[in-house]
Amino acid sequence: MSMTAAGPAVVGGPSLPQERRLVTAIPGPKSQELIERKNAAVSASVGTMMPVYAVAAGGGVIVDVDGNSLIDLGSGIAVTNVGNADPHVAQAVIEQVQRFTHTCFMVTPYDGYVELAEKLNAITPGDHAKRTALFNSGAEAVENAIKIARYYTGKSAVVAFDHGYHGRTNLTMALTAKAMPYKSGFGPFAPDVYRAPMSYPFRDGLSGEEAAARAIHTMEKQIGADRLAAIIIEPIQGEGGFVVPAKGFLPALQKWANANNVVFIADEVQTGFARTGQMFASEDENVVPDMMTLAKGIAGGLPLAAVVGRQEIMDAPHVGGLGGTYGGNPIATAAALGSLKAYEEGDLLERARELGAIMQSELTAMKSRDPRVGDVRGRGAMMAIELIDADGKPDAALTQRVAKACHAAGVIVLTCGTDGNVFRLLPPLSITDELLREGLSVIADALAAN
Ligand SMILES: Cc1ncc(COP(=O)(O)O)c(C=O)c1O
Repeated sequence: MSMTAAGPAVVGGPSLPQERRLVTAIPGPKSQELIERKNAAVSASVGTMMPVYAVAAGGGVIVDVDGNSLIDLGSGIAVTNVGNADPHVAQAVIEQVQRFTHTCFMVTPYDGYVELAEKLNAITPGDHAKRTALFNSGAEAVENAIKIARYYTGKSAVVAFDHGYHGRTNLTMALTAKAMPYKSGFGPFAPDVYRAPMSYPFRDGLSGEEAAARAIHTMEKQIGADRLAAIIIEPIQGEGGFVVPAKGFLPALQKWANANNVVFIADEVQTGFARTGQMFASEDENVVPDMMTLAKGIAGGLPLAAVVGRQEIMDAPHVGGLGGTYGGNPIATAAALGSLKAYEEGDLLERARELGAIMQSELTAMKSRDPRVGDVRGRGAMMAIELIDADGKPDAALTQRVAKACHAAGVIVLTCGTDGNVFRLLPPLSITDELLREGLSVIADALAAN
């Protein structure tokens, strides 16, 4: 048997026992040892939300180094949609890693990159001619989408939205709304980036049309369409609080962008790949973005990202203007092709809707029992509750207490929101109904006890 630093190697994937099993306190002694080693070796600025050290994962569980089996309601932040160590992904990676690991697509190309581009062009919204370029991370995809939109339009200004999150590189920090922890102390930021008001029905009570008119007014009066290269927006905001804009908001923005030679970019890094019950969240209102940024769920956990867009936009920059050493690495593209098979064969769109229905009904029941649950929102397997105090103000402290209690009980949950008061659920689509229900009942108990 092969060994890891943590002990005997454990095989992950869907054959792992699908159970919540706590055999030590969380974190257990072996995780504690690793926490000490981490503190002595890793930058303190790289935080860990739930510091139990993983040795295997699959289905709906993550097994830690102490033998605890935890319910995964985070999917590594919306990445392992097809499940951890999914067999389609694992097999594709093993085969590729034994053939070749890297040549650099810009030097000696290979077919996996092309095949993935063909597939992404086919499955993304709109039947117009499209082209794709591959990168390593969501932030890198966003950077490139903006570069391309600026080149194509010959304009420089970019609009992002309140509560938006687009990454941690310099340009994407400028696009991201929330200061702590993403931006504070890291400026100055890239210039010519502006922010427009988002549609946030729980807080603003506006219809989609009204909220769009407000955002368009900001863009016209504070920037001017003649300077604006692109609008970038998450169809459902991720880190910003799972904010689902009111119906009509996205189509109205898209219409205005199209009429004003402004490239409409949907950042589907978090919402993409079956997460919301559709392959892409833009489909919900038949929005056809000019460009899309994709990452996370694309490759079953391997680092890969894509920009997919209208052919005339994607082909605008000069040859050699786009690229990077590792973008579209052959192992990552093989993993993506494997994960696309898993989406198809596992009927994961339907599965996301089923998981969404379970979460919607359990979270709505929580809201009816507890006035501190101000809002239940999301779509498919991307659901959240927003927690508020007796005055209706965001309650970040309560959110933290509930999350901590869930972690101690062996359920991995994430928080988000500009005010830190949103509790978000992103289970892998490979989780069973039973495990999801058990996770939800742990959350309900944690909320009741806090
Ligand atoms: C909508 C959105 N865009 C961009 C990013 C950045 O992606 P990455 O962390 O891969 O750079 C994220 C990450 O959470 C995201 O949710």
